[in-house]
Amino acid sequence: MEAVENKINVMPRIGDMAPDFEAVTTKGSLKFSDYAKDKWVVLFSHPADFTPVCTTEMSGFAQRKAEFDALNTELIGLSIDSIHAHLAWVNNVRERTGVYFDFPIIADIDMKVSKLYGMLQPNESETAAVRAVFFIDPSKKIRLVMYYPLNVGRNMDEILRALEALQVSDAHGVAMPLNWKQGDKVIVPPPKNLKEMDDRLADDTCERTDFYLCKKDL
Ligand code: BEZ
Repeated sequence: MEAVENKINVMPRIGDMAPDFEAVTTKGSLKFSDYAKDKWVVLFSHPADFTPVCTTEMSGFAQRKAEFDALNTELIGLSIDSIHAHLAWVNNVRERTGVYFDFPIIADIDMKVSKLYGMLQPNESETAAVRAVFFIDPSKKIRLVMYYPLNVGRNMDEILRALEALQVSDAHGVAMPLNWKQGDKVIVPPPKNLKEMDDRLADDTCERTDFYLCKKDL
């Protein structure tokens, strides 16, 4: 019993390599290690098809898909539902609202992928995945993880903001301050020794609060 519980509670963490899996999806079968080479992946779970909050969230991902494309990012959804339920839900939302979920949604009926990614959090629900979001970089490393409970929908602006922040941080070797968004100043990495500290204190090219907090435009 303990072994099963431990397995359910495995949570890949920031910095871990994303566990590989093969799965049936609404776009056919998918082997993660062969998927989206050279791209970022946002892998997210929802508790159940044909439920209200999930419908708003999936529609949000679908409506903002062009922004994920522009950030070189593929979307993969997941829930512990059958492929038949997924197909019926995708079609129902398309017919009712005109929004089409044009990305793979994993039918994780055996819970294999949800357990692998710690999406099944039994004290929240034993049968439905929580609202997880894994940001996975092109080397297949997990870079950011979000978990939301069943009764609160995620924020699409924040998902896109965090994705862009990760990419800009990587590209420029900088860190992103509170509420950073494209166009804002970024944080210059703090000095690591006394010489760098003195250099920073003499550097008038950045907006300096003190040696450990300096911001600059990109
Ligand atoms: C929803 O998406 O509305 C939902 C799903 C599972 C539990 C509670 C709410």
